[in-house]
Amino acid sequence: MTLLPTLQARFRQALAPLTENPEPWLEMIRRAQDDRFGDYQANFAMALGKQLDKKPHELAAEVVARLDVADICHPPEVAGPGFINLRIKDEWLVARLTAALNDPRLGIETTVRPRVFVVDFSGPNVAKPMHVGHIRSTVIGDALCRILRFIGHTVISDNHIGDWGTQFGMIIYGYKHFRDENTYRTRPVVELARLYRLVRQLTDYFDAKEKLPELQQRYGEKQDELNAQTIAATPQQGRKVDKKLREAVQKLEKAVKEAVDEIASADKKIAEVDSSPALAQLAAEHPDIKRSGQAETAKLHAGDAENYRYWQEFMPYCLDDIERLYRRLYVHFDHTLGESFYRSMLADVVEELQRRGIARESQGAVCVFLEGHPAPMIVRKQDGAYLYASTDLATIRYRVERWKLDAILYVVDHRQSLHFQQLFAAARLLGNDKLELQHVNFGTVLGKDGRPFKTRAGDTVGLEGLLDEAILRAARIVAANDDAKPDGAELSPEQRACVAETVGIGALKYADLSQNRTSDYEFDYDKMLAMNGNTATYMQYAYARVRNIFAKGDIDVEQLRGSGAAIALSSPAERALGLELLRLGDALNATVVDYRPNHLTAYLFDVANSFSSFYERCSVLKAETPELRNSRLLLCDLTARTILKGLELLGIGAEEKM
Ligand code: ARG
Repeated sequence: MTLLPTLQARFRQALAPLTENPEPWLEMIRRAQDDRFGDYQANFAMALGKQLDKKPHELAAEVVARLDVADICHPPEVAGPGFINLRIKDEWLVARLTAALNDPRLGIETTVRPRVFVVDFSGPNVAKPMHVGHIRSTVIGDALCRILRFIGHTVISDNHIGDWGTQFGMIIYGYKHFRDENTYRTRPVVELARLYRLVRQLTDYFDAKEKLPELQQRYGEKQDELNAQTIAATPQQGRKVDKKLREAVQKLEKAVKEAVDEIASADKKIAEVDSSPALAQLAAEHPDIKRSGQAETAKLHAGDAENYRYWQEFMPYCLDDIERLYRRLYVHFDHTLGESFYRSMLADVVEELQRRGIARESQGAVCVFLEGHPAPMIVRKQDGAYLYASTDLATIRYRVERWKLDAILYVVDHRQSLHFQQLFAAARLLGNDKLELQHVNFGTVLGKDGRPFKTRAGDTVGLEGLLDEAILRAARIVAANDDAKPDGAELSPEQRACVAETVGIGALKYADLSQNRTSDYEFDYDKMLAMNGNTATYMQYAYARVRNIFAKGDIDVEQLRGSGAAIALSSPAERALGLELLRLGDALNATVVDYRPNHLTAYLFDVANSFSSFYERCSVLKAETPELRNSRLLLCDLTARTILKGLELLGIGAEEKM
């Protein structure tokens, strides 16, 4: 039984005669900020009072009179302007804790409304450098899958990899002209990545050269305009500068700055090639590389046998490469149906859109015009090529037909918001109005300099380097801790290595998950591996600390659980811990409301903190009586299992001994 929904159900009954829709008011029942006001607090009387034209205090009293919570709470109190304070009875807490203790699911029932979810996450573009954003998607998506499954939903994880994009044309071109046969034979992925980067670099070089004059001209124009406007906006005696004029100047300043940045970036791309004799020679020999790369992609898409053979040859290497990363992160996908899987369905989807009047031709392209969007969503280009959006529409159709879905979650970078808004709008026009489509977006991972975080090489190897570094740093922490143990080090070198892996990977994942996903966050090894604070490391040590109590006392917890020993909440610290341990269900519910795992990490942090306070104040193995000792051991047991389960639902491991 989950605490908050239980209270909400009781309030729902009490509110029924007063309002037709009690739901928004039920949202205002929360955990009390300060335990002087009880354990939970309902704050709706002020706002509802206004709506019903009743005094909040009287309304609160009226609700309380009707509220039937005598089995759960002490008599509710109305305080201040109309807060309803609830204090849960110890008997009820003990009964729930006992039930949780004897349940592998820790007292969490599965949902009464199970749904079918597809979670679309990770989705790297294979053979192209993967960036940290893909790790973020992988970690968040995997945690959401685990949590939704635990709650009782059916979850299908699907990795919508980019395996049919323009990168293949570039690689095929590179393979034909620049390959190093030796490296390709021994380390194919490394060679393919090099070829991609090389062709990309040369393509960017010609692009930059082509665009530079235009950029310079725009810079000149904007600078002239700015000069003129600045003069106009210079305050003359006794005259105030118009706000509009000032804003125009600011806008121009921004445009000039942007032009300067773009010119600098183009200059850099040109210089990189010009300054290297080898690259400059390749550029001279392949002046048409951009068009040729595109032509290779077009040939592949048109079914050219040779290019298709190349693609088939490269794909297993590319898949192995990303699979290695998933293995290290212990992430698994039920399906990896990438863009290529849908290629034969695209024509049909576009045809359907046209037939149903959802898309129409405009300047040779096929477009879906959507209300509220100035630009249409293009589903077929002038030259007949299909796009990311066409594939995503085909994907929705396929998923709906195959799995009879209720929801698709797309765990993708916030920069793709517009794409998903348009995609969802078009999918609704196609009749998917009962399907929940969610862009579970997330912010950018930043480096210490506040700019988007980049690994040195910016590729998968680089990403694996991040994991290596986290594990290396974790190993140092683990060793230092082990060495500092009062009775000497306990861990063998193998054990240390194993713990370091769990701690390092856990830290990396937790750092991602504990952020409000929509904000940017700074990648910082020291912070993520901190022994104190809201980190996996802190949680893992808390877990090991509890397990250590059992080891030290030579206690068989299973036996203790079955022995009929009872939990007693004999002090405020024990009661606070007990109450916290019953909130796991609430934390999980909060997590899936808007798909934010940071609700769960925040909860685990609260549990670990409550445990710390409890452990500081209450002796466990040396408790005053055997009954108290057993009760406290049971609280310890439930704490350890709650932390372990919470971490597991985040895709993070824990070790018995650290
Ligand atoms: N390949 C895309 C990228 O790297 C992400 C794919 C997300 N999923 C989707 N169905 N669009 O940006």
